[in-house]
Amino acid sequence: MNKNILLCVSGGIAVYKAAALTSKLVQAGFQVKVIMTESATEFVTPLTFQALSRNPVFTDTFDEKEASVIAHIDLADWADLIVVAPATANIIGKLANGIVDDMLTTTIAATKAPVWIAPAMNVHMYENPAVKRNIEVLFKDGYRFVEPSEGYLACGYVGKGRLEEPETITSLVVDYFTVPFQPLKDLSILVTAGPTREKLDPVRFFSNSSSGKMGFAIAEQAAKLGAKVTLVTGPTHLTTTSNIKLERVESAEQMYQKVMDYFPGSDIVIKSAAVADYRPIQSANHKMKKQDGTLTIEFERTTDILKTLGSIKEDKLLVGFAAETDHIEEYAKKKLHAKNLDLVVANNVNQEGAGFQSDTNIVTIYGKDESIMELPMLSKQEVAQALLEKVEKLWREKQ
Ligand code: PMT
Repeated sequence: MNKNILLCVSGGIAVYKAAALTSKLVQAGFQVKVIMTESATEFVTPLTFQALSRNPVFTDTFDEKEASVIAHIDLADWADLIVVAPATANIIGKLANGIVDDMLTTTIAATKAPVWIAPAMNVHMYENPAVKRNIEVLFKDGYRFVEPSEGYLACGYVGKGRLEEPETITSLVVDYFTVPFQPLKDLSILVTAGPTREKLDPVRFFSNSSSGKMGFAIAEQAAKLGAKVTLVTGPTHLTTTSNIKLERVESAEQMYQKVMDYFPGSDIVIKSAAVADYRPIQSANHKMKKQDGTLTIEFERTTDILKTLGSIKEDKLLVGFAAETDHIEEYAKKKLHAKNLDLVVANNVNQEGAGFQSDTNIVTIYGKDESIMELPMLSKQEVAQALLEKVEKLWREKQ
């Protein structure tokens, strides 16, 4: 494949996997050049990467190998894609804060190529608020992440923080260059999925039976079509492909906060989550003891996230879902207008093969432009495909 990959290797134990990644990328036909930070060279020598990539390895900004070019600018221009793997907490922090003090950071600062970051670190470091903050900053700046996987970590802990396998990263890179039709490339799409949980006490909550399947299918399809996808999901056991930024939340309030964080950087928002409309006014810190007689619980309204977005959406495209059991068209259209949406996807959740939990859905998509698209029973992946086709067309028309 006639594409240039610049692999940037920072210093963690996963450097040995970066050596395997170099080999896999070369075997897939890419031209690969490698930059190593000084600490990365403590784990594996540059000679290993030189032998695997068949190119000189760059470690020092001042070690100019060719007099006719300035190495970091030359590499920044040469790359069709830059992959930082493994990316340590330190390098993520530097990139997020514009610190440019070595060959790796100066090259990335000078590039116009897309940059993918594949973090690898201890599970607690990955959860550290400063690291999370830095990742969010980079994501909003347009960097993409290859999420680390979960499993046994070199430090002895088990959890999230393992560098994604070289085979997986290679196939994501191959897909990036070969998937022929990427109409959503360069668009940022925010998707919500799943239920929310509204706590009554530490062991009891109010929720609904959304599995997250519909929202996850939309997020995955959008990523396949080239979009930069953030998926904010309520509690579900589903997992995603690693090129989707996944944010797990529990309550409607947490979903609201996360959605508001990502809203400014999004072009399109698709809200398929089944968000609770009410939460208990009181949530006890201790398990409530049962008593004779009845129990009365007072509820208050949660924030209507979609309605809030509708009131500030400007030129963003907003898609809502409507889970109905009767008067489908009437109620769906009411939501379309009341929440200032561009599209609303209505499903009759009483219908067999539609709505919650099932692998299929039966939807009708109503547009602000009075368009109506009625779909037969389809897999949730096919519904996602049809919806995103419509969304893409609408987006192009709006531009
Ligand atoms: O997850 P699955 O098992 O695959 O099921 C899919 C689904 C049935 C959950 C999905 O197809 C669906 O219909 N999702 C919307 C469910 C819902 O909450 O509908 P609603 O009519 O109550 O809400 C209308 C819209 O407002 C929705 O886009 C919802 O995300 C949004 N909303 C609702 C309440 C609230 N407080 N904030 C919101 O943003």
